[in-house]
Amino acid sequence: AANAAEVARLAALRVARACRSATTRRGIPPVLGFATGSSPLGLYAELTAMLEDGSLDLAGAAGFALDEYIGLPKGHPESYAEVIRRTVTEPLGLDPAYVHVLDGNSDDPLGTCARFEQAIIDAGGVDVQIVGIGANGHIGFNEPGSSLASRTRPMTLAERTRKDNQRFFDSLDEVPTQCLTQGLGTIMDAREIVMVAKGTNKAEAVAKMLEGPVSSSCPASVLQLHPNVTIVIDDDAASRLS
Ligand code: F6R
Repeated sequence: AANAAEVARLAALRVARACRSATTRRGIPPVLGFATGSSPLGLYAELTAMLEDGSLDLAGAAGFALDEYIGLPKGHPESYAEVIRRTVTEPLGLDPAYVHVLDGNSDDPLGTCARFEQAIIDAGGVDVQIVGIGANGHIGFNEPGSSLASRTRPMTLAERTRKDNQRFFDSLDEVPTQCLTQGLGTIMDAREIVMVAKGTNKAEAVAKMLEGPVSSSCPASVLQLHPNVTIVIDDDAASRLS
């Protein structure tokens, strides 16, 4: 796609189609996986417009967020619980009871992660997972070195990721060092995956993901093994493809 508006539109059409076919196939409202960050914001705005013009119906839909910081106080505007509420749950009119975000203040993080995995199973699995890509090739917060079979778990954020996300905070010190994230194996269990990536700072990661080996040095490369992935990128993010 040439620009951000086109990226958002194409990705939204794909997500909407996946939602419709999920409902047709399974006879229940769709289950979506949500990324935070800047990349999918236009896509969420497009989905909101589709709801308004009646071309998409998300009544009863459920959602699972990819990841969450550890240790931000409850209600912190940059906690992913708040970001998801603001950019996804409210604009899409979803029932907050059906939108799951990992609890970054749990005193039992492993239990929280295990229950999250079970909640995905109980919901019948994710029909369409929306993902972005980190400049270092992460998806979710699966940083380089993550097992390609990993499940939802605590993770230490890469310094590059903390620096990239510093823009959401007042200083680097305020960016958490730890997080909880769906694993690569968890993400790969989604029936369909839609990735959005924009900008030259994603170009190297996109090239490695698509043209490099399947390797934990570029966690997103695991998507080469998924049967139903759509990658929607702008010209800048595509600029290092051969
Ligand atoms: C966010 C997430 C991350 C981001 C990635 C890109 O929930 O899982 O993998 O998708 O860091 O972030 P942006 O879109 O802000 O460039």
